[in-house]
Amino acid sequence: MSAVNYSEKIPNNVNLANDRTLQRALEHWQPHFLQWWHEMGPTDFERADVYLRTAVSVDAQGWATYGAVHMPDYRWGIFLADAVPDRKIGFGDRMGEPAWQQVPGEYRSTLRRLLVTQGDTEPASVEQQRLLGHSCPSLYDLRNLFQVNVEEGRHLWAMVYLLHAYFGRDGREEAEELLARHSGDADKPRILTTFNEPILDWLSFYCFTYFTDRDGKYQLKSLAESAFDPLSRTCRFMLTEEAHHMFVGETGIGRVVKRTLEAMKELGTGDPARLREHGAVDLATLQKYLNFWCSSSLDLFGSEISSNSAANFANGLKGRPDEDQYEDHVLRGASMKVATPEGEQEVPVLNALNEVMRESYLKDCEIGLKRWNRTIERAGHEFRLSLPSARFRRAIGAWAGQPVDPLGKLLPEEEYSRRLHEWIPSQQDRDYVKSLMRRVAEPGKMASWIAPPERGINNLPLEYEYVRLS
Ligand SMILES: [Fe+2]
Ligand SMILES: [Fe+2]
Repeated sequence: MSAVNYSEKIPNNVNLANDRTLQRALEHWQPHFLQWWHEMGPTDFERADVYLRTAVSVDAQGWATYGAVHMPDYRWGIFLADAVPDRKIGFGDRMGEPAWQQVPGEYRSTLRRLLVTQGDTEPASVEQQRLLGHSCPSLYDLRNLFQVNVEEGRHLWAMVYLLHAYFGRDGREEAEELLARHSGDADKPRILTTFNEPILDWLSFYCFTYFTDRDGKYQLKSLAESAFDPLSRTCRFMLTEEAHHMFVGETGIGRVVKRTLEAMKELGTGDPARLREHGAVDLATLQKYLNFWCSSSLDLFGSEISSNSAANFANGLKGRPDEDQYEDHVLRGASMKVATPEGEQEVPVLNALNEVMRESYLKDCEIGLKRWNRTIERAGHEFRLSLPSARFRRAIGAWAGQPVDPLGKLLPEEEYSRRLHEWIPSQQDRDYVKSLMRRVAEPGKMASWIAPPERGINNLPLEYEYVRLS
């Protein structure tokens, strides 16, 4: 069951050959996807040999195999985690009933919307990152970028499979639309704001994979709880791929911190101007990038108080990440306090689930910060990196448009706008970071602003030629 069939045009473990109509529909979409990849995927690297991992089976033992691949030939396909026999709904008003193998009519449009919103983020991030290959700090990093890119492409396949298989004609139309919207496009942008932000430098890329891919992890975890079983199985497998994306972010930022500390030692100062002359990223600038991407990603969880999230939970469509860890899975009668600019409000937990999710996400975000701060502390510096307040720079929910500083303090509007670039990158900061972005493509070599990783990929040495440019 869990083995992937690679002899077919579309690799899959869902027995696609048994459903000719579905197979034909997906084979019809496939060239549109490839065309999109060609036009909107990583520019100018179609002929490069990239050392990529590909899923061969969905079980823990050996889901991945490694080898040199031209990206347009990557075997994108449809992989679902194995079914849990007799799976029951684990939360909400229908808890304990059998999980659904089909979409109940009354939830059809809501589920479709959830899939489309998730699906839209996958190609969006590929589009956002398409120019980064030209300024990679090393071949190791270039390979990781492309690994993330092909897997986001596969995540699109995951959602498109569900749309095609369970939502008929509407689903097929949505699958086309997923290729028609583009990140940052004035007429047809991607659905969520974070996925329309440009990613033009590698510091942004590491922050994006740290914060925004981690939002992805939380969304997938909550959809993995869904009563709609094919969605749950799809998301469980996607999560195994997502882990690598966050690894790229966490180790990427960690390596920048490490290199900056070395530069501070060489210079005997943490003075940002001196560090910049030296070609390093000063910690204050890094903090601004963290503030930018963290605050942007926090909006992805939606409004603090939301009747949609209440309905999605009660109906079994979307649970909480790691639903198992909670005692109450129904939440009728439970309430909690939610902070708003008007003061604290007592709200039914059902209506505050976005906030519950955001809080556990932020706890997860803290883990990397602790690690980075430990290296700063060990190097003997007072400076500490931190997460901005969840009220800072919000565009959605109770705190939308509120002039709040990264510590969560409400400021006069005028002071907020005057000081905003103390907290998020100014054009000058971006220009400086951009000036560091020069391609380093010699095996084993690293750009001046980042330390080498601790180890190579799949037990290979760091000097391995992870991408053979043609
Ligand atoms: Fe993804
Ligand atoms: Fe991802």
